[in-house]
Amino acid sequence: MVNRIKFQGILLLNICLLIISNFVNAGRTDWSVEKSAAFWNEQARLSIEEILQRRDNTRIAKNVILFLGDGMGVPTVTAGRIRKGQMKNQLGEDYITEMEQFQHLGLSKTYNIDAQTPDSAATATAYLCGVKAQLGTIGVDGRAKRQNCTSSIGANVSSILSWAQQAGKKVGVITTTRITHATPAASYAHTPDRDWESFNTKTFGIKQVEDGCRDISYQLVTHKPPIDLILGGGRRSFYPNSISDVEYPTLNGTRTDNRSLIDEYWPGSFIWNKKQMNKTILGTTKPLMGLFEYNHMLYETDRIKIKENDDPSLSEMTKFAIEHFLTMERNGFFLLIEGGKIDHGHHDTKPRYALDEYVEFDNAIGQAKQLLKEKGVLDDTLLVVTADHSHVFTFGGYSNRGSNILGFASSESLNVSDIDQLPINIIAYGNGPNYRSNRNATYLASLNTNSTEYLSPTAQPNQDETHGGDDVPVFAHGPWSHLFIGTMEQHTIAHKMAYAACWGAYTNRNGCPSLANRTPATTATTTAAAARAATARPSGGINLFHQFNLIEKVLSFLLILIFI
Ligand SMILES: *[C@@H]1O[C@H](CO)[C@@H](O)[C@H](O)[C@H]1NC(C)=O
Ligand SMILES: *[C@@H]1O[C@H](CO)[C@@H](O)[C@H](O)[C@H]1NC(C)=O
Ligand SMILES: *[C@@H]1O[C@H](CO)[C@@H](O)[C@H](O)[C@H]1NC(C)=O
Ligand SMILES: *[C@@H]1O[C@H](CO)[C@@H](O)[C@H](O)[C@H]1NC(C)=O
Ligand SMILES: *[C@@H]1O[C@H](CO)[C@@H](O)[C@H](O)[C@H]1NC(C)=O
Ligand SMILES: *[C@@H]1O[C@H](CO)[C@@H](O)[C@H](O)[C@H]1NC(C)=O
Ligand SMILES: *[C@@H]1O[C@H](CO)[C@@H](O)[C@H](O)[C@H]1NC(C)=O
Ligand SMILES: *[C@@H]1O[C@H](CO)[C@@H](O)[C@H](O)[C@H]1NC(C)=O
Ligand SMILES: [Zn+2]
Repeated sequence: MVNRIKFQGILLLNICLLIISNFVNAGRTDWSVEKSAAFWNEQARLSIEEILQRRDNTRIAKNVILFLGDGMGVPTVTAGRIRKGQMKNQLGEDYITEMEQFQHLGLSKTYNIDAQTPDSAATATAYLCGVKAQLGTIGVDGRAKRQNCTSSIGANVSSILSWAQQAGKKVGVITTTRITHATPAASYAHTPDRDWESFNTKTFGIKQVEDGCRDISYQLVTHKPPIDLILGGGRRSFYPNSISDVEYPTLNGTRTDNRSLIDEYWPGSFIWNKKQMNKTILGTTKPLMGLFEYNHMLYETDRIKIKENDDPSLSEMTKFAIEHFLTMERNGFFLLIEGGKIDHGHHDTKPRYALDEYVEFDNAIGQAKQLLKEKGVLDDTLLVVTADHSHVFTFGGYSNRGSNILGFASSESLNVSDIDQLPINIIAYGNGPNYRSNRNATYLASLNTNSTEYLSPTAQPNQDETHGGDDVPVFAHGPWSHLFIGTMEQHTIAHKMAYAACWGAYTNRNGCPSLANRTPATTATTTAAAARAATARPSGGINLFHQFNLIEKVLSFLLILIFI
């Protein structure tokens, strides 16, 4: 009798645990459990306990990955989290993203030296080269003025990609935009104008070359040493205007200097579709460039809709890059991985695009973390997730819990405006094309706010929605992630990554192995051993899974008391 009861109890317990663990791990689909004060008190207790158990990871970062969400301000991070949860049929607000599981968090001050609200070029110069600069300039210090080649002579500043190369690391640049766009360009180019992507007399020509400047595409293919892995879009600026594109025969290159840069200068292999990427033998040391689109790559929302499309997603490129480098090289790597089209969705005030790009960016982060963990190198890899700047993107309106983030606020009596008695769009922008959008009831009812083509309302008229001037988040995980806390100037991010890895100006900082010990073949082990010796304990691990385990333990204890 006693045995039977015990057996039934255990069976029931297992079923309950299964349900509870699924429910807690997966995020919530209703909020009934939240009505209990005990739920929140216990969650808070576990959260504090998890933080108290953490130890700073002071190993030398062997690998560094910088994930850059272009235009990913705090409102995008929050709305993107809700969107990601809702795509999994959850309420969304309590969903846990990959980036928020990182150990440390700070805020980055993004202004350019001449601009209150910054652009992607000068901000990339800050977080990659460690120096703030003037708006629109790339890889040059504050003396360089946009469009003025002469002012940029002698102003070059090198980036963390070059510092990593000097330390014998493999390096890669991945983006969903043109590979010559502002963010990736700041890792390898020096130019006073982000628009000088091609040799094209409309923007950049013989005058600039005579003054001593080169277009960004030319700088990419002639970079010394060559970049080991380049994945993104933007084939057009590498080919003459008399040569048709390999994928779109009706489109020609943009160069007016009749140069075919990849054929003439690029020392590595070249691919332009996912099939070729898939066939590439991982670990081949020859440099590899994959340019998958003529212009920017597609929005993820469109990429998955177009069957015949043969472009990789950001997660697929990320997976390829990490596997490629881990197969090739035991001495470590630096990767810049940009989710570049969050920014484009926002500029067009198309939140469906912007938030779905955020979701894919977060997926790529999860992909990277999982892979590094599987390969046993997560604790030797510094992961940093940040944005260059924000956008004038907001969301609110007292909408009910779980309201479709792309839709209308619908909270009981507050579901309508008390001025025009019409529903309030949850998402709106400070400026943009859809100024004073029609607010009559028929019009609002006709909108499909889920559509990629739906334009959010904006407070001021402007063809292109602008960047925002607010601070952006910096999430960090792994060696020296504890440097990325508090409110920081954006340029310190490059320095902190270099400090963690003993690169650039921090090659000989206290705690780094001496240069003599660092010839590639022997150092991998020496460095790792030294780092391990210097580290009291490995880092704290993933907090939330820890929490769920504890919740389960508490619940099983209670259930055992009930049943036995
Ligand atoms: C460009 O910069 C140089 C050096 O700073 C300066 O002498 C020159 O006047 C500038 N030219 C223009 C057109 O602003
Ligand atoms: C600065 O960068 C430009 C563009 O790559 C290059 O042409 C120039 O030689 C560099 N100047 C110095 C002093 O390194
Ligand atoms: C593309 O190049 C071809 C061959 O030189 C030329 O005939 C054609 O006019 C070009 N097309 C465009 C749109 O420039
Ligand atoms: C452009 O370059 C190609 C290949 O080098 C050459 O055959 C062609 O004559 C050149 N065209 C012009 C207009 O210079
Ligand atoms: C190529 O595709 C196959 C099947 O999808 C996959 O198993 C394999 O890992 C891919 N290889 C590379 C190098 O991405
Ligand atoms: C406001 O909310 C009430 C109650 O949920 C609902 O009946 C009504 O249709 C809503 N009105 C609008 C304009 O959404
Ligand atoms: C409501 O907006 C629609 C679409 O702009 C317009 O055609 C219609 O005339 C408006 N109706 C009223 C009553 O203002
Ligand atoms: C819009 O998306 C939400 C969330 O994915 C979904 O619940 C809703 O049914 C969609 N509405 C329309 C009109 O497609
Ligand atoms: Zn932008």
